[in-house]
Amino acid sequence: MKAVEIDTISKVYPDGTKALNNVSFSVEKGEAVVLLGHNGSGKSTLFRSITSFEQPTSGEIRIDGITITGLKKRKLRPIRKKIGMVFQHFNLINNLSVFQNVLFGALGQTKFTFQTYSPFASKELRMKAMECLSRVGLTHLAKRRADQLSGGQQQRVAIARMLMQDPEIVLADEPIASLDPKAGREVMDLLWEIVRERGLTVVCILHQMDIAKEYGNRIVALKSGNVVLDSTIHALNDKFIKELYEKEVNEEGDEESIKVDVKKVGVL
Ligand SMILES: Nc1ncnc2c1ncn2[C@@H]1O[C@H](COP(=O)(O)OP(=O)(O)OP(=O)(O)O)[C@@H](O)[C@H]1O
Ligand SMILES: [Mg+2]
Repeated sequence: MKAVEIDTISKVYPDGTKALNNVSFSVEKGEAVVLLGHNGSGKSTLFRSITSFEQPTSGEIRIDGITITGLKKRKLRPIRKKIGMVFQHFNLINNLSVFQNVLFGALGQTKFTFQTYSPFASKELRMKAMECLSRVGLTHLAKRRADQLSGGQQQRVAIARMLMQDPEIVLADEPIASLDPKAGREVMDLLWEIVRERGLTVVCILHQMDIAKEYGNRIVALKSGNVVLDSTIHALNDKFIKELYEKEVNEEGDEESIKVDVKKVGVL
């Protein structure tokens, strides 16, 4: 069963910028795909299309077999609930407590918004928020204001908030780009541990090939809005990656699971 299907998606912004050009790939349930590409290659545009914050100009996106492109908000809501998001800049509410930020992960599960505010939240939700915080090792900071945490800690709070949502699919847009290498690695390790133990599907946008190779099952690379590489990690060999970066690819990779449009490769 496919969790995410991107079917010939193109996006042209109103100012004429072509951000995505007939992008197609799909992600199996439980698979971890790393989306790689340089600045401006269309990664975030694709991310926003999968979460329906942006409508593609053409093409279709399906989540668990349901077409979400063009879907009305009311019908979109239950599908969005399945998707947990992690962002580069954490997207916490800075002047609120860590605990309250995690509780907000339950938005969409309660009948009224105010039921996710700490004084009004049910005992069950409050306990669940503490469990999620415990999973990321931060129960001792529950009362602290979010902006009084280190970057790595803030991203762990964002992961706890995402867990509060009980997602089936995790989308992460450069989750470690604002962190130093040590904190970044800790966050990746934690995120990966959690997705493995829960069998979640992941699409994670990253910049660095070395990190991508370490964590993903598969790499999809974008360049100027085109998919230029779609390969399992297993099939990627170092020579091939080197060639990919050095613009020297002049023949197709011989392994079946590598699909590269050689003409479009260049420097990723
Ligand atoms: N709202 C917008 N209006 C017009 N052009 C846009 C808009 N958002 C993005 N773009 C353009 O679309 C292209 C793809 O941008 P996008 O943000 O998807 O790239 P990205 O791969 O996420 O880059 P980065 O690594 O810098 O985050 C870029 O040329 C960008 O300038
Ligand atoms: Mg981006």
